[in-house]
Amino acid sequence: MKKSALVALAGIAAVSVALTGCGRTDPGTEGGDDAAGFAADASIGVALPDQTSENWVLAGDLFENGLEEAGFDGNVQYAGSSNAVGDQQQQIQTMIDSGVEVIVIGAADTNQLAAQLEAADAAGVTVIAYDRLIQNSDLVDYYVAFDNFHVGELQAQSLLEGLEERFPGQEPWNVELFSGSADDSNSAVFFDGAMSVLQPAIDDGTINIVSGQTSVQQTATEDWAAENAQNRMDTILQTSYQGIQLHGVLSPNDNLARAILTSADNAGLETPVVTGQDSEVASVESIVAGVQYSTIYKDTRALVAATIDMVSQLQAGEEVTTTGESDNGVTEVPSNLLEPVIVTQANAAEAYAENPDLEPLTQP
Ligand code: GAL
Repeated sequence: MKKSALVALAGIAAVSVALTGCGRTDPGTEGGDDAAGFAADASIGVALPDQTSENWVLAGDLFENGLEEAGFDGNVQYAGSSNAVGDQQQQIQTMIDSGVEVIVIGAADTNQLAAQLEAADAAGVTVIAYDRLIQNSDLVDYYVAFDNFHVGELQAQSLLEGLEERFPGQEPWNVELFSGSADDSNSAVFFDGAMSVLQPAIDDGTINIVSGQTSVQQTATEDWAAENAQNRMDTILQTSYQGIQLHGVLSPNDNLARAILTSADNAGLETPVVTGQDSEVASVESIVAGVQYSTIYKDTRALVAATIDMVSQLQAGEEVTTTGESDNGVTEVPSNLLEPVIVTQANAAEAYAENPDLEPLTQP
């Protein structure tokens, strides 16, 4: 809590401490240090990255409305696409200067916020990492996200299932691997989760990575940009797939999945099994039509709601809901991780039954 606010709210804080019998009641790890009750109409900053997938667009609107409904004064900002890191650093500093109590950060670059977290700490601002875990700082108070390692596991399991379904008896299946942007700490987590499932299949010869590119560095897609994935797929098909069928591709999200499918289509290949993530409208349509094989449903409404709940718990000085801790390189950050859901043509209607935007896409 900021010192000025502390003085102003000393009376209220005393009452709240007396009522709850404690100040901060979080699990007491190194990461948590700040607010234990602040004004019910406090300013809350939300710094989101460039809009690299639909979930980020949705999150902004949901935070605007949800924070207002919860009684807070929300300030939601997106980093621009041309200078995302610099924009976001500036936006966070401005939020701190304007007196926010909490900043929710969907990092543009999970390694480049050290100075901003120092400033937040000095001002007594609580930092919640949203969706992407900010790395190598012990000043991240909390993390709210889907279980990203499990996302990767689910993607890889669906890839193997899809290969069996679409190309039965054709082992070894020819497969290529894609990972996300290196400046996003999620990329390696998704990839590690996927490789925990795929490595045994590579080792026993069930799948063959024809290009030989199997590391997170070799498979990275800068900026999560579709054209970068399409270019890499085009190059691999030209160099390694003359006269060979590509059976499957591990794609870390939907935006890249569609680019990879376009590349395979341009090369005249039979549609490979391609995974995805985010349940983007065009990909859900593609899955229902039998083209893209799978996606992951991470309900953004649930993630934003869990984050706003956390802000409300901090505001009330209540215990913060956590499911465990996440290692960011220097500390274990108290985390609330939600469960992702794998979606294929077979379960799309069921998976999106509660989502008014996606459910209609699953109907014939
Ligand atoms: C990740 C996020 C994914 C995807 C990607 C590109 O950090 O977890 O859902 O959206 O960024 O935007």
